[in-house]
Amino acid sequence: RQEQFAAIFDLYQNAERLYTHILLNTTAGEQALAYLHDDRKLDDETIKRYGLGFVPSNNVLLAYAREHNLADKLLLESQLFIDQDGEISRDRFNNRIVWPIKDVRGQVRGFSGRSLDPNNPAKYMNSPESPFFNKGNLLYNFDQAKPAIRAGQPAMIFEGFMDVISAAIAGATGAVATMGTALTEHHVTDLSKITDKILLVYDGDAAGQKAAKRSIPLIRQVAPQVEIGVVSLPDGRDPDEVRREQGLEVLKQDLDHGVLTPTEFLIQAAKNGKNLENQAQYLDFLKEAWPILAVASPVEQDYFLRQFSEEYGSDFTALQREFQEFLANRPA
Ligand code: CTP
Ligand code: MN
Ligand code: MN
Ligand code: MN
Ligand code: MN
Repeated sequence: RQEQFAAIFDLYQNAERLYTHILLNTTAGEQALAYLHDDRKLDDETIKRYGLGFVPSNNVLLAYAREHNLADKLLLESQLFIDQDGEISRDRFNNRIVWPIKDVRGQVRGFSGRSLDPNNPAKYMNSPESPFFNKGNLLYNFDQAKPAIRAGQPAMIFEGFMDVISAAIAGATGAVATMGTALTEHHVTDLSKITDKILLVYDGDAAGQKAAKRSIPLIRQVAPQVEIGVVSLPDGRDPDEVRREQGLEVLKQDLDHGVLTPTEFLIQAAKNGKNLENQAQYLDFLKEAWPILAVASPVEQDYFLRQFSEEYGSDFTALQREFQEFLANRPA
């Protein structure tokens, strides 16, 4: 069993090397490399640092495995191949750029592959869940981010691999990502062991906002000592798009100075899409604001009630009365 695990880890590491070699040094990788250079603005050093690779459609890994007489059982267990009833037919990530997903020790656990075809409905594909690959336990780049966070870099949680890489290029080396999945208790526990400050940097779109709304209470529950910050990016962009479209300096600014407290972020999100000059919508907004403020500090509560009063012309004591009433009638 132990040997089987070691053999699979070995295969994963060799797969990373092989796919990176193909990307950087062969004609089969040319198109993917041009895409990474020109469209994604990555240089070779960055490609190597994150072990990016390309999987051509001629089943190089399968050929490698046959050449080294690796047992079918091992190949199946690795989940790096597609099989039909145990009959292995091809490399799983054919025609995709791949990112090795490593555990905190730097051990490759699986891959995520991105299609180069913009019409492919499955833009990203991950290794299937297995004893080796569990998205709920793994944080992308945690192996490189952990020492940086220990050394004082803020821990930042992003949505995607490219966001992590762009953040690291901007100097934010404490960057990790959940992989197209929600933040879990496990992720939060791992991070809270090495830091007491976590920044959420999700995409500036509706999905990113929803993810932040979900992650804030989870972190508060799992690690109440952790201070949370939320970076909310404008215009639906993700951090990688900010770097490529607006430049590295703008991304740095956003990450350094665009940090909101959870309360600021949640109140801003509650205002979103409402015309607060409209009485009915303003009252709806207040209804959404009360539970947000209920878990905020007294100073924050006071700050926001004053802000509402000044911004929307409500009487400050009336706001206070309504908020107190909400608190009194809240189910325990
Ligand atoms: N992701 C994943 N599996 C999926 C979908 C998404 O692992 N089935 C991950 C990828 O790391 C992706 C991240 O979730 O980067 C966020 O998804 P999304 O914002 O939709 O990716 P994009 O930013 O659109 O991807 P790209 O920048 O590569 O175009
Ligand atoms: Mn090029
Ligand atoms: Mn997204
Ligand atoms: Mn993106
Ligand atoms: Mn994105």
